[in-house]
Amino acid sequence: MSELEKKDEELKEQTQETAEVKSEAKEEKKETVTEEKKEESTKKEPFKNIHVIVVTSGKGGVGKTTSSAAIATGIAKKGHKTAVIDFDVGLRNLDLIMGCERRVVYDFINVIQGEAKLNQALIKDRHVDNLFVLPASQTKDKDALTYDGVEKVFRELDDMNFEYVVCDSPAGIETGALMSLYFADEAIVTTNPEVSSVRDSDRIIGILNAKSRRSELELEPVAAKLLLTRYVPSRVKKAEMLSVEDVQELLTIPLLGVIPESPDVLKASNSGNPIILNAQSDAGKAYEDAVERLLGNEVPLRFVTEKKGIFGKIFKK
Ligand SMILES: Nc1ncnc2c1ncn2[C@@H]1O[C@H](COP(=O)(O)OP(=O)(O)OP(=O)(O)O)[C@@H](O)[C@H]1O
Ligand SMILES: [Mg+2]
Repeated sequence: MSELEKKDEELKEQTQETAEVKSEAKEEKKETVTEEKKEESTKKEPFKNIHVIVVTSGKGGVGKTTSSAAIATGIAKKGHKTAVIDFDVGLRNLDLIMGCERRVVYDFINVIQGEAKLNQALIKDRHVDNLFVLPASQTKDKDALTYDGVEKVFRELDDMNFEYVVCDSPAGIETGALMSLYFADEAIVTTNPEVSSVRDSDRIIGILNAKSRRSELELEPVAAKLLLTRYVPSRVKKAEMLSVEDVQELLTIPLLGVIPESPDVLKASNSGNPIILNAQSDAGKAYEDAVERLLGNEVPLRFVTEKKGIFGKIFKK
């Protein structure tokens, strides 16, 4: 190797080393920033009144918003002062399902950024007393949500004597989803009876155990419960769908409820009336049962076996 070639080699190595050091420094800086972000928000005092429930899933389109609307409505119907918050910044939907989209003036981000007071943004539900909706913003700015801002809103809800705060998580495991679960005491892991949904739910359970405020403060872990939605017993029988038992075996968290697939759900969403208010619908009844269990009452599982047709009923012993 000539002297010149040697120099060239050395220079290359040095450049590589510098690049590595730079990238390590960058990594470290990134970690410090995340730590700082958490530090700001990890206030040790527990909330006085509110019990925070996140409706989460990892996977998209499994029924989180439908379930948030139904469960928040069910809890409020039982007399508890409840707020339901849409964390899906940029893609708000909860206001539609709750039927209050025309009354949205201010939103969650406006409150976090100090552009509106919390009581200006909270929309009183038109179906049930004790229920308030905090809509998401349509902004594209994903950084608008901050741990500090979310905590500020929760502390204010706490001071306003709310009892339950239901957080409708966006899909995925990015900022919005992480923020929505961070302060949770309890998680409703919404899952469809299919492998990809179960896998994403498993991932979310891991995140609940590692990245929630409860895990960071080494408190009792977030109570994660399984809500199996869009269940079709006839398809389970034909082995086209995972059974309740299959899913429970894979996820090993207690079962909160099983919601059958029902065309009533889409009708309910389109009319802005949460499905739980439809007392004729099996899906509505199944949500009622889930709310009972959430509030600590034991109720048997329904709608997990195939419905008997007219002949089945006649020949039933
Ligand atoms: N039990 C059910 N029976 C029939 N359709 C259902 C049921 N639950 C939810 N759906 C339908 O599934 C679709 C997705 O529901 P929803 O918007 O609640 O999911 P999501 O998890 O909030 O979605 P995203 O991840 O996009 O926020 C909707 O069209 C809804 O009507
Ligand atoms: Mg949703």
